[in-house]
Amino acid sequence: MLILSNASALLTFDTQGKNLKAGKSEMNDIGLLTDHDVICEKGKIIDIIPHGSLSNNEYREIDLSGKTVMPGLVECHTHSAFAGKRTDEMIQRLQGVNYEEIARRGGGIANTLKSVRSSSTDELRTLTERRVKSFVSQGITSLEIKSGYGLSESDELKLLKIIKEIKHTSSIDIFSTFLGAHIVPPEFKNNRDKYIEIVTGELLSRIIDENLADYFDCFCEKTAFSAEETDFLFEKAVKAGLKLKLHTEQFNRIGGLETALKHKALSVDHLEVLKEDGIQKLAGTSTIPVVLPGVSYFLQYGYAPARRIIDFDLPVAIATDYNPGSSHISNISFIMSLALFEMRLTPAEILSAYTINAAAALDINYKKGSIEIGKDADFAVLDTPDYLDVFYNPGNNLNFMTISKGEIVFSR
Ligand code: NIG
Ligand code: FE
Repeated sequence: MLILSNASALLTFDTQGKNLKAGKSEMNDIGLLTDHDVICEKGKIIDIIPHGSLSNNEYREIDLSGKTVMPGLVECHTHSAFAGKRTDEMIQRLQGVNYEEIARRGGGIANTLKSVRSSSTDELRTLTERRVKSFVSQGITSLEIKSGYGLSESDELKLLKIIKEIKHTSSIDIFSTFLGAHIVPPEFKNNRDKYIEIVTGELLSRIIDENLADYFDCFCEKTAFSAEETDFLFEKAVKAGLKLKLHTEQFNRIGGLETALKHKALSVDHLEVLKEDGIQKLAGTSTIPVVLPGVSYFLQYGYAPARRIIDFDLPVAIATDYNPGSSHISNISFIMSLALFEMRLTPAEILSAYTINAAAALDINYKKGSIEIGKDADFAVLDTPDYLDVFYNPGNNLNFMTISKGEIVFSR
C-alpha cells in the first residue's frame, strides 16, 4: 500500500477510459491535477484524491512536493538484445555511403549478426540487462525488446530466451518480439523461400510452445522483405497467435503499410517516407503509427511526418528504436527533444506519445500508459515541478524515481 502524496504536478494523461489519445486536442491534454494524492494497492492505482483527504491512513506515504508525477514511460520499440558495435559504418556514412548501400554491401544488420552469433548467452544477457537498467533509470516501466540479430534457429532462440529470462528477473514489465524476418541472413541469400519456411515453420512453433514472444515483427523494405513475403509471414504469425508489428516505409514505399493494415497490425513503425495518401490510409484503422526520430538523426535523413499525422486527428507513438546500426541512442530525453525540435510536436503530444499511445502500440493500454483508477501503479517521478524542464534540458535525465506496480525500482 502506497500513497504518492502532494506532487506539485500530477500529469494523469487521463483518457476517460478510452486508453488512447488521437489528434491535437487529445494529445495536448495532459490531465493536470495539483494538490492530489494517488493511492496504490497491490500494484494498482485504486484512487486519486485531494491531498490530505485520507484520514488515519496506514499507507506508506512518499512526499513528492516539488516533483512531477506522470505515468511510467512506455518504450515500445527497441532492439536492445545485441552485441558488438558499428562505428565503422557511422564513419562510412559520414563519407557519403548511405545505410542502404552499406546493407547491400553485406554490412548493417548482417554485421551485428556475426557479433551476436559469436557471443555467449552470458555475454548477451549482461549487455541486455545493463541496457534495461538504463531505461529503468529514465522512468521506463514497460519495455519492448526484439530478437532479429540471430536469424538462425538456435541464435534467435538464444536471444528470445535471454529476453524471457530478463522478463522474469527485471523490475519492470518486458515485452518480447520475434523479429526473425529482419533480413534474409547471408547463408540463405540465394534461397530466400527456405529461410522464410524456417521462420514460419519449426522456429515459430518452438517460440509458441516455449512462450518466447508476444509479438511478431518484420522489416518490409527493398533490402529485407517484400510486401508479398510480409503478407505470407504475417498470415503464419497470426495463425500461431502472435500480434503483429511492422518496420515499414523507412526508405521506400513497397506496400508494407497496406500489408500491415490488411492484417490489422498493432503498429507500423518508422514511416520516414510516409506520404499524405498513407496517412489517409491509416485513418479509421486501429493500427498505431510509431515514429523513431533517433533514426533520422543518426542516419541524417528526413523525419517521419508525425506532425501531419497528429494534425490528421490520428494517434502517434514515439520510441528510441535503440539498436547498434540506425539509432544507437538510448537517451529518452534526447529522443523527446528530437520530436520537439525536428518533428515539431508539442511537449504534451510527445509525452502522450511516450505513455498511453506507446502502450496502445503494444496492446497494453488497458493497464498501462495513464494514471487512471484500476491501472498498474507505474510512475515516472520527475525532479522538477515543471515538465517543460524535460524539454529544456535535452539529453539530461530528470527522472527522480521510477515506480513499477507499486514498487520503487529506481530512485536518486
Ligand atoms: O529499426 N530497420 C530495420 N531494423 C532496425 C535497424 C537495424 C540495424 O541497422 O541494426 C531499425 O532501424
Ligand atoms: Fe527497429
